[in-house]
Amino acid sequence: MKELVLTREQIHRGSLILVNKSHPLRKDGREDCVPFRSGGLLHAEAAACLEQALKAAGALDQVRLVSGYRDRKEQEQIFRDSLAENGREFTEQYVALPGCSEHETGLAADLGVAGGGGDFIRPEFPGDGAAGRFRRLAADYGFILRYPAGKETVTGIGQEPWHFRYVGTPHAALMEERGLCLEEYAKELEAYPWEGGGPLMGPDGTEIYYVAAGGAGKVSLEVPEHMRAEVSGDNRDGWILTFRRG
Ligand code: DAL
Ligand code: ZN
Repeated sequence: MKELVLTREQIHRGSLILVNKSHPLRKDGREDCVPFRSGGLLHAEAAACLEQALKAAGALDQVRLVSGYRDRKEQEQIFRDSLAENGREFTEQYVALPGCSEHETGLAADLGVAGGGGDFIRPEFPGDGAAGRFRRLAADYGFILRYPAGKETVTGIGQEPWHFRYVGTPHAALMEERGLCLEEYAKELEAYPWEGGGPLMGPDGTEIYYVAAGGAGKVSLEVPEHMRAEVSGDNRDGWILTFRRG
């Protein structure tokens, strides 16, 4: 057995952090970002997976990153400009409050099609063609459609066919399969505690556990020697452990 120490700081980092109006960002994502092909910045892991997914979909030349990482100031500017141009109802539906936007993590990508319509806030991302091909493959590369139709009251945001969020594999596929948005998945994971009745199993044999912090500064676990944990916080009060097979 080996010791795995989970720290409070880690609660607010990682690809599974929940960022919304009730769970503001605690750590700006800039330092984890790299430039993405067509411009803009993305979290390095998200950038690599997005490029692979676009390649696999044969969509590299047709799909572009409209907006990736944004710092707080940029989100404030977008929010202010939209309030002036579009009014409060529209703005609250399509622009997250500054400090509560996934774009500030670098894990969110607004995508548009080359020559497509729409604007910066709502780029056109249709369900067919190159965009559709990417959409159908996205979960295999760790991306979810973050604001689907029908979940507006849970996410607090209107339907956004262009906004993809990197959560990693196999989480994206599990969420898609179960029809869960990130708020719902975070809750669902609580049913698989480390000291409990077993993991949530990914389709590839991956084992997923939840560890509640219960307000503690850090938690120390005994983990079998052969198991390698990927740790992400949930940006609430716990950590998600992902153990890949092999
Ligand atoms: N459009 C999404 C909600 C954002 O501004 O982060
Ligand atoms: Zn977005």
